Amino acid sequence: MIHYNQQKAIFHLQGPTYSYLLGVQDGVLMQWYWGGRLPNDAVEGLIENRGEGASFDTAFSRQPVAVPTQERGYMGQRAVSVRNSEGDDVLSLRYQGYRILPGKKALQGLPCSYVEKDDEAQTLEIDMKDALTGVAVTLSFTVFASYDVLARSMVVKNEGGKPFELTDVQAAMRLPADSYELLHLKGAWARERHARRVPMGEGSYAIKSRRGASGHENNPFLAVLKPHTTEDQGDVYAMTHVYSGSFSAGVDVGIDNEPTMMIGLCSDVFSWQMEPGAVFQAPEALFVYAPDGLNGLSHRMHPFVRQRICRGKWRDLPRPILVNNWEATYFDFTYDKLLAIAKRGAEIGCELFVLDDGWFGRRDSDHCSLGDWVVNEKKLEGGIQRIAQSINELGMQFGLWFEPEMVSPDSDLYRAHPDWCLHVDGRPRTEARNQLILDMGRKEVQDYVIESVSAVLRCAPISYVKWDMNRNMSEGFSCVLPASRRMESQHRYMLGLYRVLEEITSAFPEVLFESCSGGGGRFDCGMLCYMPQTWTSDDTDACERTRIQYGTSLIYPCSAMGAHVSAVPNHQTHRVTPFQTRCDVAMGGNFGFELDLSKQTEEDLATAKKAVDMVKKLRSTMQQGVYTRLLNPFANEGRAAWQFTDDHRVIVCLYVPYQQPNPQPHRVKLAGLEAEALYVDEEHGVTASGAALMNLGLIMPHGQGDHASWVYVFEKKDPAAEARL
Ligand code: GLA
Repeated sequence: MIHYNQQKAIFHLQGPTYSYLLGVQDGVLMQWYWGGRLPNDAVEGLIENRGEGASFDTAFSRQPVAVPTQERGYMGQRAVSVRNSEGDDVLSLRYQGYRILPGKKALQGLPCSYVEKDDEAQTLEIDMKDALTGVAVTLSFTVFASYDVLARSMVVKNEGGKPFELTDVQAAMRLPADSYELLHLKGAWARERHARRVPMGEGSYAIKSRRGASGHENNPFLAVLKPHTTEDQGDVYAMTHVYSGSFSAGVDVGIDNEPTMMIGLCSDVFSWQMEPGAVFQAPEALFVYAPDGLNGLSHRMHPFVRQRICRGKWRDLPRPILVNNWEATYFDFTYDKLLAIAKRGAEIGCELFVLDDGWFGRRDSDHCSLGDWVVNEKKLEGGIQRIAQSINELGMQFGLWFEPEMVSPDSDLYRAHPDWCLHVDGRPRTEARNQLILDMGRKEVQDYVIESVSAVLRCAPISYVKWDMNRNMSEGFSCVLPASRRMESQHRYMLGLYRVLEEITSAFPEVLFESCSGGGGRFDCGMLCYMPQTWTSDDTDACERTRIQYGTSLIYPCSAMGAHVSAVPNHQTHRVTPFQTRCDVAMGGNFGFELDLSKQTEEDLATAKKAVDMVKKLRSTMQQGVYTRLLNPFANEGRAAWQFTDDHRVIVCLYVPYQQPNPQPHRVKLAGLEAEALYVDEEHGVTASGAALMNLGLIMPHGQGDHASWVYVFEKKDPAAEARL
């Protein structure tokens, strides 16, 4: 997987379908290549030494330096920036040595991808150092034998005698000169991860979050693609961050038109004081090259995220079908009301009831009580124990909502510890949703959160936790840090949060955790390391969800996305869609209900029950199979189609937002089937070869009114086996 050619000083990192070549030239680490797999490192005559004396430009502005810094006239974006003890920012990192290690080490204090056995991956560590100041960097690259994802991270050390300030750390990858487009996931609350594709010219492009969370606005994902890339063809270079806080991701097109992609911490809200001997671990970044379009990207990312980011008991287990009371009751519930909803849920086969918000302190609205994780027995007679037990008696598991990183100014916690929130003395504490953010960088705050959440989890049979985080940082600073370290506050918050998540999820390994942040405001590989699923969006409208789930699916697997059937008119858009369509679209993720089941018509309940039965029968394919996008709802007049495939079945979902009179015929071509095999959907009367389904395609039905959808379930038959019968 990783080969070192000592004579040529070339490191060849060889994944299943990609190669990445690094080399040492005059003591400088260069990136020679990233793209399709090469059989070996034979590249003589293909590596040019550009720049030297070629023009007025100094050498480094034109060399493919692997870790670009401020030195020898380098003019592009820097991967590592420091303000050294002399006050300047020159940094000449020179190669010191390397190690090739089996497997993959965990990152100190940060989430990261992992191996189950050492022989499934190799890690290359490369040491570099600036002789004058003692700034040292160790780069780490992991190549997996059966996953097409390159994982990389960086450690910065102070091996000198004087302190310096680390002001930026980015993972940089260089691309061949060509014309490209950019793809990123833009959003806002209730319309997260809308896929945006824009032409890329010659300059710098950046998306970022300085919100203290990866955020609704920009997901930590950026892809650079050839202009005509479609779902199934075209070169795609993509990256994401295993981190849940502020980030920046960008592309810098250099003098020779070779773009450099970079992802890392957001330097607007980050710097770190490095005393002699200090060690700083930067977050992990993941890079994927796919020569076969956007589905090629997803087909590489999904199994990796599912199996080498997500972990724990629930990683491979069928995810329970849940009923959540949020949109059913909001804060206005009683024990009886909850039980009535749960009973209906149990009758139609749901497996988990989730009590969302409003159960603690005096929480009858969003104005108070965050931080006081003590049940309100006046509202919920008998407390969590009684409701959990009653739910269990209905044959369902019980789950509970928390928002542990927050504090309401109107809470006992805030009255006792007004300095525990992020703030700046002498300035207003900006509230959002009437709440402030706890300073998770402080040990005593972390311990309080661990203890208060654990105490609730210990008191009753709680099988699921929804971990919410409903606002972003404004005065995001820790009052206990000295002025020289205040810019460390946001990253210290993340390290503290990760410690808390590690402790709680390890102490309660049986519990299924789902992360949430005002919907999908923290949907990233960092959170997925602790919690294998995320609430995709507070927008539960089926039509909107086709877009949100489309964008999310570019890198995140369906098993990571929560998707619920909710009431009509929809609470976010006021749109009315058929019950069946709401079910079909929610089957694009971890299926559940978020409406008052006790108030639904018999007809809708029958549809709901049919959907529950279907999910139970098909969820192994939907959660563990291959997910392929067939029709992009951002184009195609909003029509959407997607497919789940495993060895013995294919599930196809079609969605049409509005019907036209006398419609033109539309066909949807399936993908990735066995050409010779026969696929049979008895319900819709389709029996066709894989080749016919892929080339002729399914006919998009019509005539059912707006927001119509159809789910086809094809069982695969092997014609040879059939003939033998
Ligand atoms: C956030 C979540 C919702 C719900 C509410 C409760 O908005 O995204 O799903 O849990 O908080 O207050």
